[in-house]
Parts: sequence; C-alpha cells; structure tokens
Amino acid sequence: MAKTMNLGFLGCGNIGGGVYHLLTEMHDEILEREGIDIQIRRALVKSIAEARTDIPKAFMTENADDVLLDPSIDIVCEFMGGEQPAASFMKRALENGKTVVTANKMALALNWPALQAAAADHGAGLYYEASVGGVIPVIRSLTVSLDADKIDQVMGIVNGTTNYILTQMTQQGRSYADVLAEAQKLGLAEPDPTADVEGYDAAYKLSILSSIAFHTRVPYDRIHREGIASVTPDDIAYGREMGYTLKLLAIGKRTDDTVEVRVHPTFLPNAHPLARVDGSLNAIYIHGRYCQDMMLQGRGAGDKPTASAICGDILYAAKHLENPTVPSFKNTDTPDSDITFSDNWTCRFFIRLDAADTPGVLGRVAGAFSGKNISIASMLQRPAADGRAQIILITHEANECAVQEALASLNPEFVKVESMIRVEN
Ligand SMILES: NC(=O)c1ccc[n+]([C@@H]2O[C@H](COP(=O)([O-])OP(=O)(O)OC[C@H]3O[C@@H](n4cnc5c(N)ncnc54)[C@H](OP(=O)(O)O)[C@@H]3O)[C@@H](O)[C@H]2O)c1
Repeated sequence: MAKTMNLGFLGCGNIGGGVYHLLTEMHDEILEREGIDIQIRRALVKSIAEARTDIPKAFMTENADDVLLDPSIDIVCEFMGGEQPAASFMKRALENGKTVVTANKMALALNWPALQAAAADHGAGLYYEASVGGVIPVIRSLTVSLDADKIDQVMGIVNGTTNYILTQMTQQGRSYADVLAEAQKLGLAEPDPTADVEGYDAAYKLSILSSIAFHTRVPYDRIHREGIASVTPDDIAYGREMGYTLKLLAIGKRTDDTVEVRVHPTFLPNAHPLARVDGSLNAIYIHGRYCQDMMLQGRGAGDKPTASAICGDILYAAKHLENPTVPSFKNTDTPDSDITFSDNWTCRFFIRLDAADTPGVLGRVAGAFSGKNISIASMLQRPAADGRAQIILITHEANECAVQEALASLNPEFVKVESMIRVEN
C-alpha cells in the first residue's frame, strides 16, 4: 500500500516553483517505483494575489502557522531564503516534530546548532543537500560516504555568479564592472550583487562544508572573506602568462588542532581540476587521508538542478520518516576548545607592484621580502607609462602575516602595491 507524504512549502519563488514542477512531473513514477505518494498540501506565500507560482491557489496561505502547525504535514520545505523568519520557522517546524528540507545556506550557517538541536530533541529530520553546490551531492558525500575518513582539505567554487564573472573576465579580457552589468542583464547576478561578489554566499557555504568535513563547528564569523570587486583584467592576464587561472575559492584546511577557513580570489595552476571549472558551474575538491584527491562538479544553482537535490532530500526524508537522520558531527554553539583558527596560513602569493623604473627598485623589493624570509619563485617586469614599471612576482610558500608585513614596509613613493592574490596548488 502506498505511503502518503504531505508537504508544506515555506516560500514559493524560483526554487519552490522548480520543486513543484519536478514533483508534479515525477509523482506517478515515484509512487510506482517507491510506493510513496507525495502531496503538496500547503504553500506559504507573502501575497496570494501576487504569488508567482503555478501551485494552485487553493493550497496557498499567507499564514505560516497553516504550514507549521498543520498536523497532517509531514515534511516542511523551506524556500524563502534569508536568515529570518526562515530560521525561526524551521525551528518551530522541527519542534513540532516535522522533518525539514531546506536549501537556505544563510539561515543554516547562522543558526545551525539550534536547528540541529531542535531536530535531535524532537526526533525530526533536517536535510540540506541543496544548500551547498546546488545539485552536487557534496553534503551526503561528506556525511555518509566519507564519514570514516580524515578529511584535511575542502576547496570549492561554490558561487556560480562569481565564477561566471571571472570566467568572462579571463576569456574576454573584460573589466569586472562590464561583466557584472552584463550578468545582471542576463539574470545571472542579482540587482544587488553584494552577497555573491563580496563572498558572503561562499562563506556561508564554507561554514557548512568545513563544519561537516572537519567534524567540528566552524562558525561563519571565523571565516576570512574577500570578494572579487577589486580583481582587474591585468591581474588575470599576468597570472595567465605565469601559468595560473583565477577563481573565487572557499578554502578549508585542517591539521591536527588548527583550522583555516577563507574565501578569496585565488590563483590555481592551469592544470588544476578546479581551474577548468568555468561559467556558472560549481565544483568541490576534497582531500582526505584515505580518499586522497577527489572532485565533485555540477550546476550550483538554477531551479531545475536545485530542485533535483531538494527532491532527493524529500524522497530520502519520506523513506526515513520514522528514523530520521541529522549529520553526525559536533555541532555546538562554540567550536571545540582544542581547535585554533589560524589567520596566518601558508601559501604562495601573486604580487603586482607599480614601481619607479629606476636602478635599485628591484633591490628594495627583494630586500623587503628576504627580510621576512620570503623567497621569490618567478617574476615578470613590464614597462608602464610615465617612467614606471609593473613588477609581477610569485613567491614560494610563505606566511600570510610575513607577506602583509613585507608589503607594508615598501615605500609607496617608489613601489606601490597594486594587488596581492593567494596562490594554491
Ligand atoms: N536560486 C537558486 O538557484 C538557488 C540555488 C540553491 C539554493 N537556493 C536557495 O533557495 C532559497 C530560495 O531561493 P529562490 O531563488 O527560490 O528565491 P526567490 O525566488 O526569491 O523565492 C523566495 C520566495 O519566498 C517568498 N518569501 C520570502 N519571505 C517570505 C515570507 N516572510 N513569507 C512568505 N513568503 C516569503 C518570496 O515571496 P515574494 O515573491 O513575494 O518575495 C518568494 O516567493 C534561498 O535560500 C536560496 O539561497 C537558491
């Protein structure tokens, strides 16, 4: 006999619409294959009169309690976005014993311990595969398939908008502002692009990914974050000339008791698998003691790919309603006391300087670096206007603080620092 599974939606925009279409199209096949009859019972919208969804109006409500308190609803699917009221609605749903499926990285990253506790205390499931990397099954890979391994690195292109912008800048030599304006016209960037281009979105996702991967809570506010707004076509072109491709990466690394988490533009060797992930695609590169290197790639956004991941969660939740799962890692308000978050990471650095084209300038630069034990791996010099020169160098592995101090010690009258971009291997 078929098992009926009643859903309540919170919000019904792009993603809610995509989920509605998938579940409508796949309903009969899922019923036949899995014996589960998935029914959408209620959908919270801001205004029924102005709702932009194909869900029949009879199911719509403007009152969240109609979803959160309805005893017939088994699974609450949250597609509202933003931190509040989404997080408090999810918490109430869990406290009422309802399983929650969400794609909301912001609400999750900022309220995760409370949500997980509510789920555990009330025997409810909490599923969020689509919150990182859209359709890419990275949450399940980390929490199930790789759960026994010791993961020491996650490195991801987790924001499609910024990857699209950097790809266009790289392939066409265009400016950031020009490509952003085009992306906004095409609907690939929001009218207010701050969350994407300043790296907030990637940082929420990194908080989720690294918490799961490293089995300790990595709070969002411990993540070092820089966006792509100051990246220039010159940086990208010089990097290319030296064998590197620029990406906005979300990087998490763990050694025994130290975690470093950072989101910033990063040069990768052209041959690195992530360097070839172009356009709006997402990818997550994982390294572990036993799994070694692996990469997952796919569509990180869009109503259809995201709906695929969400509906996978819904179906999984439907099959495990009596025995729901929440990820098994130490998700507490504060990180483990034996963990130190490091801001003084080690990597290589791409540095572009605008220097007076006079004898002795290179010596000053070399002196500033060698004084901090930083050695230079490769260098380019190009004449510029008004008797100046562009000096572009890539260091060997060095400490962040040492590089910052070396750059600060340069006299801007002779040598101006135009850009500093981290380089990963
Ligand atoms: N778009 C993607 O490709 C993608 C990919 C992965 C994850 N996600 C995540 O999925 C979630 C939804 O994204 P989306 O693109 O579908 O956003 P969206 O198109 O803006 O849809 C959000 C919907 O929720 C409604 N809503 C917001 N606050 C509400 C409230 N207080 N009461 C009732 N309804 C409310 C909005 O109503 P109005 O229309 O009246 O404003 C809108 O219909 C977000 O958490 C996002 O981060 C999106």
